[in-house]
Amino acid sequence: MSNESLANLMTETRRFAPPAEVVAGANVTAAAYEAAAEDRLGYWAEQARRLSWEREPTETLDWSNPPFAKWFADGRLNVAYNCVDRHVEAGNGDRVAIHFEGEPGDSRAITYAELQREVSQAANALGELGVATGDRVAIYMPMIPEAVIAMLACARIGAPHSVVFGAFSADALATRIEDADARVVITADGGYRRGAPSALKPAVDEALTRPGAANVRNVLVVRRTGQDIPWTSGRDVWWHEAVGRQSTEHTPEAFDAEHPLFILYTSGTTGKPKGILHTTGGYLTQVAYTHHAVFDLKPETDVYWCTADIGWVTGHSYIVYGPLANGATEVLYEGTPNTPHNGRWWEIVEKYGVTLLYTAPTAIRTCMKWGDDIPARFDLSSLRILGSVGEPINPEAWIWYRKHIGGDRTPVVDTWWQTETGAMMISPLPGVTLAKPGSAQTPLPGISATVVDDDGNEVANGSGGYLTLTEPWPSMLRTIWGDDQRFLDTYWSRFEGRYFAGDGAKKDEDGDIWLLGRVDDVMLVSGHNISTTEVESALVSHPRIAEAAVVGATDPQTTQAICAFVILRGGAPQEEGLVEELRAHVSKELGPIAKPKRILAVEELPKTRSGKIMRRLLRDVAENRELGDVTTLTDPAVMDLIQTKLPSAP
Ligand code: WT7
Repeated sequence: MSNESLANLMTETRRFAPPAEVVAGANVTAAAYEAAAEDRLGYWAEQARRLSWEREPTETLDWSNPPFAKWFADGRLNVAYNCVDRHVEAGNGDRVAIHFEGEPGDSRAITYAELQREVSQAANALGELGVATGDRVAIYMPMIPEAVIAMLACARIGAPHSVVFGAFSADALATRIEDADARVVITADGGYRRGAPSALKPAVDEALTRPGAANVRNVLVVRRTGQDIPWTSGRDVWWHEAVGRQSTEHTPEAFDAEHPLFILYTSGTTGKPKGILHTTGGYLTQVAYTHHAVFDLKPETDVYWCTADIGWVTGHSYIVYGPLANGATEVLYEGTPNTPHNGRWWEIVEKYGVTLLYTAPTAIRTCMKWGDDIPARFDLSSLRILGSVGEPINPEAWIWYRKHIGGDRTPVVDTWWQTETGAMMISPLPGVTLAKPGSAQTPLPGISATVVDDDGNEVANGSGGYLTLTEPWPSMLRTIWGDDQRFLDTYWSRFEGRYFAGDGAKKDEDGDIWLLGRVDDVMLVSGHNISTTEVESALVSHPRIAEAAVVGATDPQTTQAICAFVILRGGAPQEEGLVEELRAHVSKELGPIAKPKRILAVEELPKTRSGKIMRRLLRDVAENRELGDVTTLTDPAVMDLIQTKLPSAP
């Protein structure tokens, strides 16, 4: 990347000190950075002691065959025991583990003691269905308690799960079942989505007609909506029958720390999905530690809510394993943020007294678009820390989140990590860090990250380049399922001895890290590398803009020309002269080189189901090409809407 252009970008100067009460009671203080810098492995060995081991590890890291790491290799433990049973044994069986809120408004509180009984029953049922240690189980579920119970039951018997997002197609499910060679699929008749039952089981039936899915013996089906579904007798089994009649006792067996815990597929932009493999001891250590440190969790008093879906890694690490390992009380919500009204999330925060909230920038920007008055109708005063994950958060969205959700009082923690990293890697600490809106800032204690140039040399402060991780970490992916070579090629070959994350980043004058999006999204304009993220943030800092997506379209004069798609705030029609005003605004914020050539107001942006903007499709529009693959879009109709808006191309 060209350093001159980046050095001038992003001139965010607002700073927010951690509130005194968070500082006073913080789980993790500045001393942690020093301790971890002095003895990184010793620091992680200490964090591993948060878990209950059947056999304590004596070895921390085996890096004798890099990049294939082994963490805590001679230790043995059971993940479900750590997430459930030990809290009951410690006398906290009556604490609520999960406050479930269904989309239609049904709710259910599940204590740790109840969770223990239900996970035990599910583990017994899987055993009865012949699921053995090491067998893979596919989980294709709505956001209901049984999804969490199914994951924990798999972990309890050492059967790696592969959770497939419930809105993925039969095709996507079939590919994943085949790649992992799953033996059992756990699903539901359907789930509630935008006010109506939405079927899941028919997609499973369709997926199982594919030859690659021939090894699936049974489908375990939760009854959630009660809708009519096709049934294959002999293969399909009702959860309430097969699980319901089991003993509520099950003795957890300890597994090696490197026993596979789960496979989770990331689609990426090209090629077939990669089955990211996570294992047991190191993964659980880092998710538990980071949840404790970054959310400053006080399990006796906090009510935590992560709005992600369990089909994503955020759901695995910060709905299931991290919070439950820490004995948290958490909210699990089935539906969408705007069913039946745009204030549903804030109603839930008020109802359960949520103190810690973890969500994504895309959701925050959507709420900005709906208007400040909506959260203002609810009592959000219980909130004490707000988290963000999934994309760079524009400084203006960060400020809005803090102000309108956090009452101008709560720290906002912008957490950078990936499916591959398993757990948070770069994030402020709420009781330590002087926060900068829009920056993930600092590698967590025990994590080593830096920004390098094309040749792999660390860049100076004030410069940009590629984000790399320079030392192994406990929750790192161990490989790509069945494809060690692809693991080496994708992550470890670009820079010698380092993990390449695929993200562009910049270090500011203080050495804090700013994420600039996937390197594939960087634009080249008249010899300058310009990050889509920075132009988008500049647009969102204009009071009329709620959300922006920027792409580089091929241009004969400048190599690429910046083309922006924007969503206006509050729904008022576009005023005359706005486009010129926006171009001038970006020019003022970032410099004339970053001024978009074209700006188009649209109603919606194309997003993947995990909320990431699909710039590839916008580039197709900007370059007047036929659209590429739209199957992973939340709503493919969005693209038609955008194209009808398009004046004749330049
Ligand atoms: C990619 C990983 C981590 C769980 C959800 C996404 C982007 C993630 C941030 C952040 C800037 C972020 C990166 C990363 N990303 N968090 N705080 N700031 N970018 O998991 O689907 O594996 O995506 O999401 O580009 O590489 P994922």
